[in-house]
Parts: sequence; structure tokens; C-alpha cells
Amino acid sequence: MQTVAIVSQKGGAGKTTLALHLATAAHAAGIVSLILDADPQATASRWSQWRDGAEPDVIDCASPPLLAKKLDQAAELGAELAVIDTPPHADSMSAAACRVADLILVPCRPRAFDLDAIQTTADLVKASGKPGFVVFMAGPQRAIHLYKEAAEIVAGFGLAIAPVVLSERAAYHHATGAGKTAQELEPGGRAAEEVAALWAWVRQRGNVLTRKHVSKEAAA
Ligand SMILES: Nc1ncnc2c1ncn2[C@@H]1O[C@H](COP(=O)(O)OP(=O)(O)OP(=O)(O)O)[C@@H](O)[C@H]1O
Ligand SMILES: [Mg+2]
Repeated sequence: MQTVAIVSQKGGAGKTTLALHLATAAHAAGIVSLILDADPQATASRWSQWRDGAEPDVIDCASPPLLAKKLDQAAELGAELAVIDTPPHADSMSAAACRVADLILVPCRPRAFDLDAIQTTADLVKASGKPGFVVFMAGPQRAIHLYKEAAEIVAGFGLAIAPVVLSERAAYHHATGAGKTAQELEPGGRAAEEVAALWAWVRQRGNVLTRKHVSKEAAA
């Protein structure tokens, strides 16, 4: 099982939005995926209730020392991808999520205050020794200079940047508020395209595509 931790100490960075979209895109691609809701705010769990428990499953874990055990149990039950949604302002849970992750994503708005605030998260990611990437969230759709400047700041913190951004689009908050994802709400929309591209990149990086899936797709 591959584990992706979504981590940012900054509140409202887009952690839950990113976690839900990634896990649901994986599920739609035939991967047995789940969201591990490690945030006491339980936003991902609420979203799951709004969609009447439709997959991907959301399981909760409020205790950092139990995280690894929960993931082992999920893997034993057949999960192939776990996406951990973490709380803001929580060093111990963020650090625990980084420790168990194969890949760490740090959502961040490409804005000065937000960029400044991810330095502590960047330090956590680097301390874990795991591959970590900033995913720019909710920024303008076309702003080459802004993204270039943001990329320079992120590079200064020693983090890499994912090659896909999830721009500021109404589809993301309309969808999540309705217990859906942007891909489910507007399958042909731009937000859906962004999520598909991000999932394709994560899948390739994490080698989430197992032999089983390759042979299934080849047979189709
Ligand atoms: N790409 C986007 N386009 C438009 N709105 C977005 C985008 N990403 C996130 N949002 C909105 O920003 C707000 C915060 O997002 P979200 O709840 O995912 O952040 P969070 O990091 O999980 O917050 P918290 O730290 O409180 O857990 C939500 O209203 C969400 O709908
Ligand atoms: Mg959240």
C-alpha cells in the first residue's frame, strides 16, 4: 500500500480538498483507496457523510501513535492507497503522518503570507527524509510571474514543487460542499482536468499502478 500524507501547519491551505480529490480520483481509476482523517475537525468524515458513505472510505485516527497501526489494518483489508488528511497547527500528527508516508504533499496558496508560513512544515518534511512536494492551491489560473516567485521561495525552503496546480476554481468548493469532487460534479471541467493530471503524476511517482492493474487495463 502506498501512503500519501497531506501536510501543512497553515489552516485553510487546501489539505482536505487535496486529500478528497486525490483519493476519489484513485478510486475512480480502480485503486482501492481510503482517506485517513487525522484531523479532529473531521472535515473529510463530514464530507463522507454528505455523500452517504460512497467510496472512498474515510476512517478516522486522532492519535499520532496509532497512525501506523491503522494503516497496517487498512493494508491488510486490501487498501492500495491511503491519503492522510492532517490538521493544522499540530506538530505531532503532522510529524507522524510524514513518518508513515511514501510521499508528502504540502498544499499552499501562492501568496506571501501562506508561503512564509510553510517554512515550519518544510522543516518537518525534510526531517522525515521522505519525498515532499508543494502543491500550489487556489492561486490564479494564469500568473506566470506569481508562480515563478512562489517557486523561488519554496526552493529556498528546500522543497520541490509538484508539476500540477489546483487553481482557484468554484468547482472545488461547490463540489466538496455537495459531498462530491470536482471530477464528479463537472467531469469535463477544468478542475477535473487538473485533478486528473495531479493524480496521474502521483500515480506515476508512487508506482501505485500495480501489476494487477496493469494486466486488468491491458485486458480491457
Ligand atoms: N483550488 C481551490 N479553488 C477554490 N477553493 C479552494 C481550492 N482549494 C481549497 N479551496 C477552498 O479553501 C477552503 C479551505 O480548504 P480546505 O478546507 O481544503 O483547507 P484545509 O487546509 O483542509 O483547512 P484546515 O487547515 O482548516 O483543515 C475551503 O473553503 C475550500 O473549498
Ligand atoms: Mg482540513
